[in-house]
Amino acid sequence: MNWNLAKHIFLESNLHGFQLVFKTSLHLIERLLWIALIVASIYSVFNTWKGEWIRYKTKSIALFLETNYKSWGIIVPACTICTDFIDPKRVDDMIEKNYNKDCSIMNIGDIFPNFQANTTQGSIDFYDWLGDSWGILFSHPADFTPVCTTELARVAALVPEFERRDVKPIALSCDSVESHIGWIADIVSYGKLEDVSPFPFPIIDDEKRELAVKFQMLDKDEIGSKGLPLTCRAVFIIDSKKKMRAKILYPASTGRNFDEILRVVDSLQLTDKNKVATPVDWKKGEPCMVLPTVKSEEISSLFPNGVEVIKVPSGKEYLRKTQ
Ligand SMILES: *[C@@H]1O[C@H](CO)[C@@H](O)[C@H](O)[C@H]1NC(C)=O
Repeated sequence: MNWNLAKHIFLESNLHGFQLVFKTSLHLIERLLWIALIVASIYSVFNTWKGEWIRYKTKSIALFLETNYKSWGIIVPACTICTDFIDPKRVDDMIEKNYNKDCSIMNIGDIFPNFQANTTQGSIDFYDWLGDSWGILFSHPADFTPVCTTELARVAALVPEFERRDVKPIALSCDSVESHIGWIADIVSYGKLEDVSPFPFPIIDDEKRELAVKFQMLDKDEIGSKGLPLTCRAVFIIDSKKKMRAKILYPASTGRNFDEILRVVDSLQLTDKNKVATPVDWKKGEPCMVLPTVKSEEISSLFPNGVEVIKVPSGKEYLRKTQ
Protein backbone atom coordinates (compact mmCIF):
# COMPACT_ATOMS: atom_id res chain seq x y z
CA MET A 1 0.00 0.00 0.00
CA ASN A 2 1.26 3.40 -0.87
CA TRP A 3 0.75 5.34 2.36
CA ASN A 4 1.76 8.62 0.90
CA LEU A 5 -0.83 8.33 -1.83
CA ALA A 6 -3.51 7.26 0.71
CA LYS A 7 -2.66 10.24 2.92
CA HIS A 8 -2.85 12.54 -0.04
CA ILE A 9 -6.25 11.22 -1.14
CA PHE A 10 -7.56 11.47 2.43
CA LEU A 11 -6.43 15.09 2.84
CA GLU A 12 -7.64 16.04 -0.61
CA SER A 13 -11.13 14.61 -0.13
CA ASN A 14 -11.45 16.21 3.29
CA LEU A 15 -10.38 19.50 1.82
CA HIS A 16 -13.05 19.21 -0.87
CA GLY A 17 -15.64 18.27 1.73
CA PHE A 18 -14.70 21.23 3.86
CA GLN A 19 -14.76 23.56 0.89
CA LEU A 20 -18.19 22.31 -0.07
CA VAL A 21 -19.64 22.81 3.42
CA PHE A 22 -17.99 26.21 3.66
CA LYS A 23 -19.28 27.31 0.28
CA THR A 24 -22.81 26.07 0.96
CA SER A 25 -22.99 27.89 4.28
CA LEU A 26 -21.71 31.02 2.68
CA HIS A 27 -24.40 30.75 0.03
CA LEU A 28 -27.03 30.27 2.70
CA ILE A 29 -25.84 33.29 4.66
CA GLU A 30 -25.72 35.30 1.49
CA ARG A 31 -29.32 34.33 0.65
CA LEU A 32 -30.49 35.33 4.14
CA LEU A 33 -28.77 38.66 3.88
CA TRP A 34 -30.34 39.26 0.51
CA ILE A 35 -33.80 38.47 1.85
CA ALA A 36 -33.21 40.89 4.73
CA LEU A 37 -32.04 43.48 2.28
CA ILE A 38 -35.04 43.04 -0.01
CA VAL A 39 -37.47 43.26 2.91
CA ALA A 40 -35.68 46.37 4.11
CA SER A 41 -35.69 47.88 0.66
CA ILE A 42 -39.41 47.28 0.17
CA TYR A 43 -40.04 48.82 3.59
CA SER A 44 -37.92 51.78 2.69
CA VAL A 45 -39.55 52.29 -0.67
CA PHE A 46 -43.01 52.19 0.87
CA ASN A 47 -41.95 54.70 3.45
CA THR A 48 -40.22 57.19 1.30
CA TRP A 49 -41.23 59.64 -1.26
CA LYS A 50 -41.13 57.96 -4.65
CA GLY A 51 -38.16 59.07 -6.62
CA GLU A 52 -34.52 59.34 -5.84
CA TRP A 53 -34.45 56.90 -2.96
CA ILE A 54 -31.27 55.27 -4.21
CA ARG A 55 -29.47 58.48 -3.45
CA TYR A 56 -31.17 59.67 -0.33
CA LYS A 57 -32.57 56.71 1.50
CA THR A 58 -29.48 54.69 2.30
CA LYS A 59 -29.75 55.98 5.83
CA SER A 60 -33.35 54.94 6.41
CA ILE A 61 -32.64 51.38 5.24
CA ALA A 62 -29.64 51.15 7.51
CA LEU A 63 -31.72 52.44 10.43
CA PHE A 64 -34.46 49.95 9.69
CA LEU A 65 -31.98 47.09 9.65
CA GLU A 66 -30.44 48.29 12.87
CA THR A 67 -33.71 48.37 14.79
CA ASN A 68 -35.13 45.16 13.37
CA TYR A 69 -32.24 42.80 12.89
CA LYS A 70 -29.77 43.80 15.56
CA SER A 71 -30.55 40.73 17.64
CA TRP A 72 -29.76 38.47 14.72
CA GLY A 73 -26.27 39.86 14.69
CA ILE A 74 -26.30 40.56 10.99
CA ILE A 75 -26.52 44.29 11.04
CA VAL A 76 -22.90 44.88 10.11
CA PRO A 77 -22.67 42.55 7.10
CA ALA A 78 -26.18 43.55 5.99
CA CYS A 79 -25.24 47.19 6.07
CA THR A 80 -22.10 46.45 4.13
CA ILE A 81 -24.05 44.79 1.36
CA CYS A 82 -26.72 47.42 1.70
CA THR A 83 -24.32 50.28 1.17
CA ASP A 84 -22.61 48.34 -1.58
CA PHE A 85 -25.94 48.02 -3.28
CA ILE A 86 -27.36 51.50 -2.86
CA ASP A 87 -24.42 53.75 -2.27
CA PRO A 88 -24.49 56.60 -4.80
CA LYS A 89 -20.94 55.51 -5.60
CA ARG A 90 -22.57 52.54 -7.30
CA VAL A 91 -23.71 54.90 -10.02
CA ASP A 92 -20.07 55.89 -10.52
CA ASP A 93 -19.01 52.26 -10.57
CA MET A 94 -21.69 51.43 -13.10
CA ILE A 95 -20.45 54.16 -15.38
CA GLU A 96 -16.84 53.19 -14.82
CA LYS A 97 -17.53 49.53 -15.57
CA ASN A 98 -19.40 50.37 -18.72
CA TYR A 99 -16.69 52.78 -19.78
CA ASN A 100 -14.05 50.11 -19.50
CA LYS A 101 -16.12 47.29 -20.90
CA ASP A 102 -16.17 47.59 -24.62
CA CYS A 103 -15.16 51.05 -25.56
CA SER A 104 -12.01 52.99 -25.29
CA ILE A 105 -12.33 56.76 -25.11
CA MET A 106 -13.35 58.09 -28.52
CA ASN A 107 -11.13 60.81 -29.78
CA ILE A 108 -10.96 63.29 -32.61
CA GLY A 109 -9.88 61.43 -35.74
CA ASP A 110 -11.50 58.12 -34.70
CA ILE A 111 -14.12 56.58 -36.95
CA PHE A 112 -17.49 57.12 -35.25
CA PRO A 113 -19.00 53.66 -34.67
CA ASN A 114 -22.14 52.69 -36.55
CA PHE A 115 -25.30 51.83 -34.60
CA GLN A 116 -28.94 50.92 -35.08
CA ALA A 117 -31.62 52.85 -33.27
CA ASN A 118 -35.31 53.59 -33.16
CA THR A 119 -36.05 57.24 -33.79
CA THR A 120 -39.01 59.56 -34.29
CA GLN A 121 -38.47 58.94 -38.03
CA GLY A 122 -38.46 55.13 -37.74
CA SER A 123 -35.60 52.75 -37.11
CA ILE A 124 -32.28 53.69 -38.68
CA ASP A 125 -28.84 52.37 -39.39
CA PHE A 126 -26.72 55.42 -38.56
CA TYR A 127 -24.28 55.05 -41.48
CA ASP A 128 -27.10 54.48 -44.00
CA TRP A 129 -28.98 57.45 -42.62
CA LEU A 130 -25.90 59.68 -42.91
CA GLY A 131 -25.07 58.60 -46.46
CA ASP A 132 -22.31 60.90 -47.71
CA SER A 133 -23.33 63.84 -45.55
CA TRP A 134 -21.73 65.16 -42.42
CA GLY A 135 -23.64 64.53 -39.20
CA ILE A 136 -24.10 66.12 -35.79
CA LEU A 137 -25.24 63.81 -33.02
CA PHE A 138 -26.26 65.77 -29.97
CA SER A 139 -27.63 64.35 -26.74
CA HIS A 140 -30.03 65.63 -24.10
CA PRO A 141 -30.65 64.64 -20.50
CA ALA A 142 -34.38 64.03 -20.91
CA ASP A 143 -37.60 64.89 -22.73
CA PHE A 144 -39.89 67.62 -21.39
CA THR A 145 -37.06 69.53 -19.77
CA PRO A 146 -36.72 73.29 -20.19
CA VAL A 147 -33.20 73.74 -21.60
CA CYS A 148 -33.48 70.86 -24.08
CA THR A 149 -36.75 72.25 -25.40
CA THR A 150 -35.07 75.56 -26.24
CA GLU A 151 -32.14 73.73 -27.85
CA LEU A 152 -34.23 71.48 -30.07
CA ALA A 153 -36.38 74.41 -31.17
CA ARG A 154 -33.20 76.28 -32.15
CA VAL A 155 -31.81 73.32 -34.11
CA ALA A 156 -35.14 72.92 -35.93
CA ALA A 157 -35.00 76.60 -36.90
CA LEU A 158 -31.36 76.22 -38.02
CA VAL A 159 -32.01 73.21 -40.27
CA PRO A 160 -31.58 75.31 -43.48
CA GLU A 161 -28.13 76.38 -42.16
CA PHE A 162 -27.21 72.74 -41.53
CA GLU A 163 -28.46 71.77 -45.00
CA ARG A 164 -26.34 74.51 -46.59
CA ARG A 165 -23.29 72.79 -45.06
CA ASP A 166 -24.55 69.30 -45.92
CA VAL A 167 -24.81 68.40 -42.22
CA LYS A 168 -27.61 66.20 -40.86
CA PRO A 169 -28.54 66.84 -37.23
CA ILE A 170 -29.81 64.00 -35.05
CA ALA A 171 -30.78 64.27 -31.37
CA LEU A 172 -30.71 61.63 -28.63
CA SER A 173 -32.32 61.48 -25.23
CA CYS A 174 -32.91 58.67 -22.73
CA ASP A 175 -36.65 58.41 -23.38
CA SER A 176 -38.92 56.44 -25.68
CA VAL A 177 -40.06 57.38 -29.18
CA GLU A 178 -43.62 57.89 -27.87
CA SER A 179 -42.29 60.35 -25.32
CA HIS A 180 -40.20 62.13 -27.98
CA ILE A 181 -43.24 62.48 -30.23
CA GLY A 182 -45.28 64.01 -27.42
CA TRP A 183 -42.40 66.36 -26.67
CA ILE A 184 -42.01 67.48 -30.31
CA ALA A 185 -45.43 69.16 -30.09
CA ASP A 186 -44.10 71.28 -27.22
CA ILE A 187 -40.87 72.09 -29.11
CA VAL A 188 -42.84 73.16 -32.19
CA SER A 189 -45.12 75.33 -30.08
CA TYR A 190 -42.28 76.89 -28.06
CA GLY A 191 -40.20 77.64 -31.15
CA LYS A 192 -43.24 78.87 -33.18
CA LEU A 193 -42.28 76.27 -35.80
CA GLU A 194 -45.81 75.48 -36.99
CA ASP A 195 -44.72 75.76 -40.64
CA VAL A 196 -41.77 73.38 -40.07
CA SER A 197 -43.60 70.11 -40.64
CA PRO A 198 -42.80 67.26 -40.35
CA PHE A 199 -40.27 67.85 -37.59
CA PRO A 200 -37.03 68.23 -39.57
CA PHE A 201 -34.64 65.86 -37.79
CA PRO A 202 -34.94 62.56 -35.91
CA ILE A 203 -34.69 62.07 -32.14
CA ILE A 204 -33.17 58.76 -31.05
CA ASP A 205 -34.85 56.56 -28.46
CA ASP A 206 -32.15 55.61 -25.97
CA GLU A 207 -34.37 54.59 -23.10
CA LYS A 208 -32.02 51.68 -22.32
CA ARG A 209 -29.02 54.03 -22.29
CA GLU A 210 -27.09 51.68 -24.56
CA LEU A 211 -25.87 54.46 -26.82
CA ALA A 212 -25.31 56.81 -23.90
CA VAL A 213 -22.94 54.24 -22.43
CA LYS A 214 -21.37 53.34 -25.76
CA PHE A 215 -20.54 56.95 -26.55
CA GLN A 216 -19.60 57.87 -22.97
CA MET A 217 -22.28 60.49 -22.63
CA LEU A 218 -23.49 59.68 -19.10
CA ASP A 219 -23.19 62.45 -16.55
CA LYS A 220 -22.47 61.23 -13.02
CA ASP A 221 -24.00 64.35 -11.52
CA GLU A 222 -27.21 64.22 -13.50
CA ILE A 223 -29.46 61.63 -11.87
CA GLY A 224 -32.97 61.15 -13.24
CA SER A 225 -36.15 60.29 -11.40
CA LYS A 226 -35.33 56.57 -11.65
CA GLY A 227 -32.04 57.09 -9.85
CA LEU A 228 -29.98 56.44 -12.98
CA PRO A 229 -27.51 58.81 -14.60
CA LEU A 230 -28.71 60.78 -17.61
CA THR A 231 -26.79 61.91 -20.65
CA CYS A 232 -24.94 65.20 -20.61
CA ARG A 233 -25.15 67.64 -23.51
CA ALA A 234 -22.71 66.00 -25.89
CA VAL A 235 -22.07 67.12 -29.46
CA PHE A 236 -20.27 64.88 -31.95
CA ILE A 237 -19.42 66.35 -35.31
CA ILE A 238 -18.87 63.56 -37.84
CA ASP A 239 -17.56 64.14 -41.37
CA SER A 240 -18.58 62.50 -44.64
CA LYS A 241 -15.97 59.76 -44.07
CA LYS A 242 -17.58 58.92 -40.67
CA LYS A 243 -14.63 60.34 -38.83
CA MET A 244 -15.31 62.18 -35.58
CA ARG A 245 -13.97 65.70 -36.12
CA ALA A 246 -15.05 67.45 -32.93
CA LYS A 247 -16.51 66.51 -29.58
CA ILE A 248 -18.02 69.06 -27.21
CA LEU A 249 -19.40 68.23 -23.74
CA TYR A 250 -21.60 70.52 -21.68
CA PRO A 251 -23.28 69.90 -18.34
CA ALA A 252 -27.07 69.61 -18.17
CA SER A 253 -27.34 73.05 -16.59
CA THR A 254 -25.79 74.86 -19.57
CA GLY A 255 -27.62 75.09 -22.89
CA ARG A 256 -25.36 74.92 -25.94
CA ASN A 257 -24.58 77.68 -28.40
CA PHE A 258 -25.52 76.38 -31.84
CA ASP A 259 -23.95 79.38 -33.58
CA GLU A 260 -20.68 78.11 -32.15
CA ILE A 261 -21.41 74.59 -33.41
CA LEU A 262 -22.06 75.94 -36.92
CA ARG A 263 -18.87 78.00 -36.64
CA VAL A 264 -16.90 74.82 -35.84
CA VAL A 265 -18.43 73.10 -38.88
CA ASP A 266 -17.47 76.11 -41.05
CA SER A 267 -13.94 76.01 -39.73
CA LEU A 268 -13.61 72.24 -40.29
CA GLN A 269 -14.99 72.40 -43.81
CA LEU A 270 -12.82 75.39 -44.75
CA THR A 271 -9.60 73.98 -43.30
CA ASP A 272 -10.25 70.65 -45.04
CA LYS A 273 -10.10 72.41 -48.41
CA ASN A 274 -7.35 74.98 -47.73
CA LYS A 275 -4.04 74.93 -45.91
CA VAL A 276 -5.32 77.32 -43.24
CA ALA A 277 -6.46 77.35 -39.62
CA THR A 278 -9.09 79.70 -38.21
CA PRO A 279 -8.06 82.14 -35.46
CA VAL A 280 -9.81 83.12 -32.26
CA ASP A 281 -13.48 84.13 -32.61
CA TRP A 282 -13.24 83.59 -36.37
CA LYS A 283 -16.44 83.72 -38.38
CA LYS A 284 -17.11 82.54 -41.91
CA GLY A 285 -15.66 85.03 -44.41
CA GLU A 286 -13.09 86.53 -42.03
CA PRO A 287 -9.31 86.23 -42.59
CA CYS A 288 -7.61 83.07 -41.41
CA MET A 289 -4.08 81.90 -40.68
CA VAL A 290 -1.78 80.09 -43.11
CA LEU A 291 -0.64 76.73 -41.69
CA PRO A 292 2.92 76.74 -40.30
CA THR A 293 3.68 73.76 -42.58
CA VAL A 294 3.23 75.89 -45.73
CA LYS A 295 6.67 76.98 -47.05
CA SER A 296 7.21 80.60 -48.17
CA GLU A 297 7.84 79.50 -51.76
CA GLU A 298 4.40 77.80 -51.89
CA ILE A 299 2.55 80.93 -50.75
CA SER A 300 2.08 82.61 -54.12
CA SER A 301 0.64 79.48 -55.77
CA LEU A 302 -1.57 78.49 -52.80
CA PHE A 303 -2.77 81.98 -51.87
CA PRO A 304 -3.06 84.12 -55.02
CA ASN A 305 -4.88 86.83 -53.00
CA GLY A 306 -1.73 87.38 -50.98
CA VAL A 307 -0.65 86.81 -47.41
CA GLU A 308 0.08 89.40 -44.73
CA VAL A 309 2.96 88.49 -42.42
CA ILE A 310 2.45 90.05 -38.99
CA LYS A 311 5.67 91.25 -37.35
CA VAL A 312 6.39 89.99 -33.84
CA PRO A 313 9.32 90.65 -31.45
CA SER A 314 10.74 87.16 -31.95
CA GLY A 315 11.27 87.96 -35.64
CA LYS A 316 9.70 84.61 -36.55
CA GLU A 317 7.30 84.77 -39.50
CA TYR A 318 4.58 82.42 -38.31
CA LEU A 319 1.64 84.81 -38.04
CA ARG A 320 0.55 84.79 -41.67
CA LYS A 321 -2.96 86.04 -42.41
CA THR A 322 -4.88 85.48 -45.60
CA GLN A 323 -8.37 86.37 -46.77
C1 LIG B 1 -36.76 49.16 -31.79
O1 LIG B 1 -38.02 48.88 -31.23
C2 LIG B 1 -38.41 47.54 -31.34
C3 LIG B 1 -39.85 47.43 -30.86
O2 LIG B 1 -40.00 48.04 -29.61
C4 LIG B 1 -37.44 46.65 -30.55
O3 LIG B 1 -37.79 45.31 -30.66
C5 LIG B 1 -36.03 46.86 -31.09
O4 LIG B 1 -35.10 46.16 -30.30
C6 LIG B 1 -35.68 48.34 -31.09
N1 LIG B 1 -34.41 48.52 -31.77
C7 LIG B 1 -33.34 49.09 -31.21
C8 LIG B 1 -32.12 49.19 -32.06
O5 LIG B 1 -33.35 49.52 -30.07
